[in-house]
Amino acid sequence: MTKKVQIGKTDLYANPIGFGANAVGGHNLYPNLDEEVGKDLVRTALDKGITLLDTAFIYGPKRSEELIGEVLQERGNRSDVIIATKGAHKFVGDDTVLDNSPSFLKQCVEDSLQRLQTDYIDLFYIHFPDEDTPKDEAVGALKELKDQGKIRSIGVSNFSLEQLKEANKDGYVDVYQGEYNLFQRDAEKELLPYAAENGISFVPYFPLAAGLLAGKYDKNTKFNDLRADMPLFQGEKFQESLAKVEKLREIVDKKPQDMANVVLAWYLTRDAIDLVIPGAKKPAQIESNLQTLNVELSSQEIKAIDEIFS
Ligand SMILES: NC(=O)c1ccc[n+]([C@@H]2O[C@H](COP(=O)([O-])OP(=O)(O)OC[C@H]3O[C@@H](n4cnc5c(N)ncnc54)[C@H](OP(=O)(O)O)[C@@H]3O)[C@@H](O)[C@H]2O)c1
Repeated sequence: MTKKVQIGKTDLYANPIGFGANAVGGHNLYPNLDEEVGKDLVRTALDKGITLLDTAFIYGPKRSEELIGEVLQERGNRSDVIIATKGAHKFVGDDTVLDNSPSFLKQCVEDSLQRLQTDYIDLFYIHFPDEDTPKDEAVGALKELKDQGKIRSIGVSNFSLEQLKEANKDGYVDVYQGEYNLFQRDAEKELLPYAAENGISFVPYFPLAAGLLAGKYDKNTKFNDLRADMPLFQGEKFQESLAKVEKLREIVDKKPQDMANVVLAWYLTRDAIDLVIPGAKKPAQIESNLQTLNVELSSQEIKAIDEIFS
């Protein structure tokens, strides 16, 4: 059985390989998603030993949470699963605005509970900061929900360092989720050190740089989803990124696991990172990502990977 890791200072313990479920029912993010395949992704993740599922209201919207809720109902093993979800987006007509007000966040949690068909959420994140709400007040609302047993831990995502500090004024923030991968390392300057110093678990999103760090794209690959607009996938930047991936391949080729595994294992060597949440669109990718647990990286390899992308 896989050794579980404690998530920061919470009483949650998870397989360090989680599953990022934005491609489960996330029709607003990816075209041509099949909901049955989405449910199979969740089933595969849980069958193979993944314990943490990462979702959000806005994935779908609503559909990712609803499909996860359906799978949890059919399996009946709620207590074995750590559900992480997020809220802050509010629909105003056809537009979405961000709202971190205590009353809205409390409503978000109630609505997520309904969609997930459960009576508690293991980890609830404020998905994005709004401009108006003092962040300690926003987190204060989540602390009330934690005291009521509706959520078990408190997360924030996409906050600046200043917003994170304000949010954590009373020490209530358990988890920070932010973009971090070998191509996007800004978090190393301030956010990762702050998280490490304050016992906050840092969950990196886009760990595979939306698939680029799985080493399967080349200069001719075309994208028709959210990647079509991501800077990493544009023109010269894309060519430079592919060249770095080829350098990484020289290290990966000496190991029995795949590139995605080596990359995910590298993050797990960082202070403050307890777990990763790679996304997947095929069950086989989930099984493959679990091979990360078998990767052994020497200190030289950790340094060499660092240098390719520094
Ligand atoms: N807090 C936030 O604001 C925020 C923002 C973004 C994401 N997230 C979370 O982070 C999670 C991960 O992000 P992400 O899914 O967008 O990006 P990612 O994990 O960097 O990349 C996932 C994509 O890589 C490819 N892939 C995965 N495993 C692979 C393997 N073993 N071999 C080859 N290709 C593989 C798949 O795409 P293809 O098959 O299409 O190549 C998959 O959809 C999300 O699911 C979500 O839960 C949070």
